[in-house]
Amino acid sequence: MTSLVEELTGAVSAAFAAAGLPRELGGVIESDRPDLAPYQCNGALAAAKAAKANPRALAGAVADHLKAARPDLGVEIAGPGFLNLIPLPSMYAQRADALAADPRTGARLASDPLRVMIDFGGPNVAKPMHVGHLRSSVIGDSLQRLFRFLGHDVTSDIHLGDWGLQMGQLITELQDEQPGLPYFDAGFTGPYPDEAPVSIDDLARLYPQASAKGKADPERQERSRKATAELQAGRPGYRALLRHFILVSIAALKVDFDDLGVHFDLWKGESDVNDLIADMVADLRKRAITEESAGALVIRVAREDDKKELAPLILVSSQGSALYATTDLATILERRRELDPDLILYVVDLGQSDHFEQVFRAAIKAGLAEDGGLEHVKFGTVNGPDGKRLRTRDGGTFRLADLIEQARERARARLTEAGLGAELSPEAFEDVARKVANAAIKFSDLQNVRTTNYVFDLDRFVCFEGKTGPYLLYQAVRIGSLLRKAEGEGLKDGPVQISHDAEAALVRRLDGFEAAVQRAESGRAPHILCEHAFNLAQAFSAFYTQCPILPEKDEPIRAARLTLARTTLTQLRTVLGLIGLDVPERM
Ligand code: ARG
Repeated sequence: MTSLVEELTGAVSAAFAAAGLPRELGGVIESDRPDLAPYQCNGALAAAKAAKANPRALAGAVADHLKAARPDLGVEIAGPGFLNLIPLPSMYAQRADALAADPRTGARLASDPLRVMIDFGGPNVAKPMHVGHLRSSVIGDSLQRLFRFLGHDVTSDIHLGDWGLQMGQLITELQDEQPGLPYFDAGFTGPYPDEAPVSIDDLARLYPQASAKGKADPERQERSRKATAELQAGRPGYRALLRHFILVSIAALKVDFDDLGVHFDLWKGESDVNDLIADMVADLRKRAITEESAGALVIRVAREDDKKELAPLILVSSQGSALYATTDLATILERRRELDPDLILYVVDLGQSDHFEQVFRAAIKAGLAEDGGLEHVKFGTVNGPDGKRLRTRDGGTFRLADLIEQARERARARLTEAGLGAELSPEAFEDVARKVANAAIKFSDLQNVRTTNYVFDLDRFVCFEGKTGPYLLYQAVRIGSLLRKAEGEGLKDGPVQISHDAEAALVRRLDGFEAAVQRAESGRAPHILCEHAFNLAQAFSAFYTQCPILPEKDEPIRAARLTLARTTLTQLRTVLGLIGLDVPERM
């Protein structure tokens, strides 16, 4: 199905060709002066420049051909030679009917579906999640929804951080607290207990304890380092403990992510590729991709034309251990073997740009990936009102569960203040509060251009007015209840006819969905979906204020407006779904 912009581009391009001018100059865009005309083409100016001709004269020639070919289009020449295009109502009506009949409201499937892996979330076992992980989760989830919607074959992986020094810190700290556990007895032959020796609260307590002690006492830190190396070398008791730590963490994380409505296909982590590392390193060594450097084994990745120096990737540290980049490389190898993705997206903060540049270059050098097959989808930081990276009041990092609860509290208060959800059962009210809270958190993040930083302001995010997630949910709920009322009164939808400018404006917004989806995909840019959702809701509001629906006496006009409302709701739900917002039935 072609959008209006595409259809107009086709018609104008043909008119350029008919006037003996380059067809490629016939591109049509939404006008920057919608008060004059909704669409425009500026190609006559470029054509005139190339041909050293008068642009208005060329525009006139194109306009003549265009008018002859398209009687359903108003064509005017403006300024130095712009073509202003004003579709007649019939053109809008036809497009609206096509959108209404399409469950995807105009969004096409990808012409070349890919196998895509999305690596996002990335919390670390035992360390509390911070807002960077939240951003990754929200952006990554939106991208996985968008890519699936487009028909790509998507696999998402949370890629837990479960292989670093923090594991050794947990082990040593637990040993100090409970030295009698069998995991620490080198002579123990197993089997180890099935039940975890720690809870998630224990983990949350042990890690900061160990970390503080390690900072104060180098010997204590050395013990943790040694434990990490022994763990990586396969000491059975430590491996058994690691399993427990990971399972306890995953169980707790699943609760939080379920609450947030974020889903991962795979719950793998750095530790899953440990068994691949030795062979991978040996292979890279054999192929002379690595070099020795100050006792470490590295891969040089700098290039002549680099603007700033890129350090070599450290594959094996001077102490013999695998590092973050090592597990990332081995994970590429594993993913290639198991899924063979065409594309892997890493949704990780900007601060890790060098890391990913090193890993990607090394992977290409090693033949593990093709150019363009690995992509760092970067994002900026979330700041507090002071403009610095967001922290909790006591200076610590934010916990996801606390954040969700805070948002929910405000959502309940705002709903009550606005008199919403008053007639719902307590369970239904709580469900709405959850949806409003998630909408607030997600939309306020996703609406920003991903690489910019933004200031976290929960009170503003949970408002029902302004450009917020809750506002959009509320608009969708309102349209839903309008349609229910119409059904209750036995009113039927009918073919679209355009009797008011606000209707045409709404059709233009609906028509823009396909382009928004394309741009969001190519730019890995959920903010474009947010923008579209907001503009659509605004266009509906304007339409609804100016064009009565239920009270409209003219039956065909009312039926047409019901079709427009229903199509708007379908599209609004779809686009909100792509950014992870769940629209309640009522509120
Ligand atoms: N665990 C990492 C962190 O907290 C993020 C993981 C990102 N994904 C990856 N494949 N490196 O910084």
